Amino acid sequence: MGTSSSSMLSLLSIILLLSLSWAASDSVHGAFLQCLSSHSQPSHPISAVIYTPDNSSYSSVLESYIRNLRFNTPATPKPCLIITATHESHIQAAVICSKKHGLEIKIRSGGHDYEGMSYVSDAPFFILDMFNLRSISVDIEDESSWVHAGATIGEIYYRIAEKSKTRGFPSGLCPTVGAGGHFSGGGYGNMMRKYGLSVDNIVDAELVDVNGRLLNRKSMGEDLFWAIRGGGGASYGVIVSYKIKLVQVPATVTVFRVARTLEQNATNIVYKWQQIADKVDEDLFIRLILDVVNDSRSGEKTVRATFLSLFLGSSERLLSIMNTSFPELGLQSSDCTEMSWAESVLFSADFAIGTPVEALLNRTRRVQYHFKRKSDYLKEPIPKAGLEGLWKKMIELETPFLKFNPYGGKMAEISPAATPFPHRAGNICKIMYATNWHEEGSEAAERYLNLTRQLHSYMTPFVSKSPREAFLNYRDRDLGINHNGKNSYLEGRVYGIKYFKKNFNRLVHIKTKVDPGNFFRNEQSIPTLPYEILVYLVLEVVISIFFFFGSLYESIW
Ligand SMILES: Cc1cc2nc3c(=O)[nH]c(=O)nc-3n(C[C@H](O)[C@H](O)[C@H](O)COP(=O)(O)OP(=O)(O)OC[C@H]3O[C@@H](n4cnc5c(N)ncnc54)[C@H](O)[C@@H]3O)c2cc1C
Ligand SMILES: *[C@@H]1O[C@H](CO)[C@@H](O)[C@H](O)[C@H]1NC(C)=O
Ligand SMILES: *[C@@H]1O[C@H](CO)[C@@H](O)[C@H](O)[C@H]1NC(C)=O
Ligand SMILES: *[C@@H]1O[C@H](CO)[C@@H](O)[C@H](O)[C@H]1NC(C)=O
Ligand SMILES: *[C@@H]1O[C@H](CO)[C@@H](O)[C@H](O)[C@H]1NC(C)=O
Ligand SMILES: *[C@@H]1O[C@H](CO)[C@@H](O)[C@H](O)[C@H]1NC(C)=O
Ligand SMILES: *[C@@H]1O[C@H](CO)[C@@H](O)[C@H](O)[C@H]1NC(C)=O
Repeated sequence: MGTSSSSMLSLLSIILLLSLSWAASDSVHGAFLQCLSSHSQPSHPISAVIYTPDNSSYSSVLESYIRNLRFNTPATPKPCLIITATHESHIQAAVICSKKHGLEIKIRSGGHDYEGMSYVSDAPFFILDMFNLRSISVDIEDESSWVHAGATIGEIYYRIAEKSKTRGFPSGLCPTVGAGGHFSGGGYGNMMRKYGLSVDNIVDAELVDVNGRLLNRKSMGEDLFWAIRGGGGASYGVIVSYKIKLVQVPATVTVFRVARTLEQNATNIVYKWQQIADKVDEDLFIRLILDVVNDSRSGEKTVRATFLSLFLGSSERLLSIMNTSFPELGLQSSDCTEMSWAESVLFSADFAIGTPVEALLNRTRRVQYHFKRKSDYLKEPIPKAGLEGLWKKMIELETPFLKFNPYGGKMAEISPAATPFPHRAGNICKIMYATNWHEEGSEAAERYLNLTRQLHSYMTPFVSKSPREAFLNYRDRDLGINHNGKNSYLEGRVYGIKYFKKNFNRLVHIKTKVDPGNFFRNEQSIPTLPYEILVYLVLEVVISIFFFFGSLYESIW
């Protein structure tokens, strides 16, 4: 009797506690909603863009920009609401009110974050969704364009090509990627050897800061403007738009896709690719993809090397360059197709030749899967014996594949401190580790994550060391996670040094200046300088002043 009444009591108190915490979170949401509407401008009512879970469109709005099915399961934490901003004032209200009510903000533009960091969190959160803010104004006279963060790079390419066949912009290969995340994390694509990254071609920006102010390059200052060109926007504010500088492209470019298996001499060809890919003419970008396939003759598993290329010129000049620099590939004129630059974007994204360029405007991805990505930087060619070992490992693991993106050219000319993106001279290429799967469930996910990590681990002797560098836009939780507690600086250093090398320190200083309360945070954001280190720095200055006057005093006497 005694035990049952006490267990009854504890059951009651659990129910009471639960309902209290529900009430508490309800009242946080209630107060948050109230705050939002009190900051709403009559001309742009925020109520029209708020989706709570009881709204019938909530799930479809949430899922339209989930690009990795790994984070679209019943167990995936869901936002308490989604604000699909259509006006700057919605962003300002979201920032001011979430700061006031302690609700975590997740900023999403195109939703391509490899680890879902723009729409998943373990803490209670809401999504500030930018997909409605997608206007693009191209000014051909000024060779520039203002683009909203919620525009996709496919839309940007299309709007530029619409105005001029000889202008383009150096960004990623996949048209559905969002400008907001892509540009703020670097943004590379197949014109990087000629023009660098997206961030190397950005000349202005608009951002809503932690106090809800709308700033541009002039009012935010050069430090903050530097940070949001590669340091990850989500640590510093909400990027509303970027102003980009257009680049010249020829009216006709040439593309090819040529594959060779191990039986077709792939080892020698890949070995040679490593010697030339970062050194050839900077009009030529040859991406290398390695995957495991069945040999068409024997039916045995083999490794296939696919060379996927954009050349900013005619097929005739391309063939002559290939003949001198890379005859091992045996490129034929029948392998080459001339087309417009906009068409070449679709070719690189695996659309069939002849697909109308309007496909650049399509935000629906053709295939969706679960995936994991990791990155590395290659500074020295992998010796032939190393390649042979890699083939064995790949055939053993089967599913993971590799993409090698060559550097050199303009990438090697830009100082590593010019932007937060530090991986400049001295790199042959960046390596991407990729695994896609269709099976549901955490068991399958664990298995494929493990395969990806095994391949990454196999490559350790061949790639960059101390630090083992990584690319921010290839978000990888394995590099370390920040709990944004009292160890956030030390936790942030672990992944920060890999993503940013020496630029990490400057990013931390700027962060401490513009967002000292660490409001804009996520699992891999830039931390603020901890109080202890600030005290130490001040002490150091005081001591050196003391010694300076001390020695002055001594020298006078
Ligand atoms: C299929 C696919 C192909 C890709 N191809 C390339 C490629 O060719 N080249 C390349 O460089 N990268 C590529 N990426 C990686 C891509 O650049 C990054 O995932 C990038 O962050 C995506 O931007 P997003 O706006 O779509 O993503 P989101 O998931 O919306 O955002 C990514 C990060 O940026 C933050 N963020 C988003 N918008 C804002 C904003 N307005 N203000 C502040 N912070 C913001 C988010 O909070 C999150 O931390 C590819 C990714 C995928 C899935
Ligand atoms: C869902 O939310 C939108 C945007 O706030 C609103 O316009 C719409 O009326 C809501 N629909 C329902 C069924 O609640
Ligand atoms: C394979 O490549 C090597 C080195 O480039 C070359 O000497 C050899 O002739 C090639 N073999 C075939 C079958 O093409
Ligand atoms: C390769 O062959 C195996 C059987 O030998 C088969 O199960 C597999 O689906 C094949 N893979 C491809 C990509 O065709
Ligand atoms: C390639 O080079 C060889 C000799 O080096 C020459 O005979 C051949 O004509 C060249 N082909 C092209 C397409 O330039
Ligand atoms: C956009 O792409 C999707 C996926 O490939 C396709 O189903 C759809 O028809 C396309 N939409 C348009 C308007 O072409
Ligand atoms: C992969 O899984 C195996 C077996 O569970 C484990 O021993 C190994 O350490 C894992 N490898 C990596 C790189 O995670």
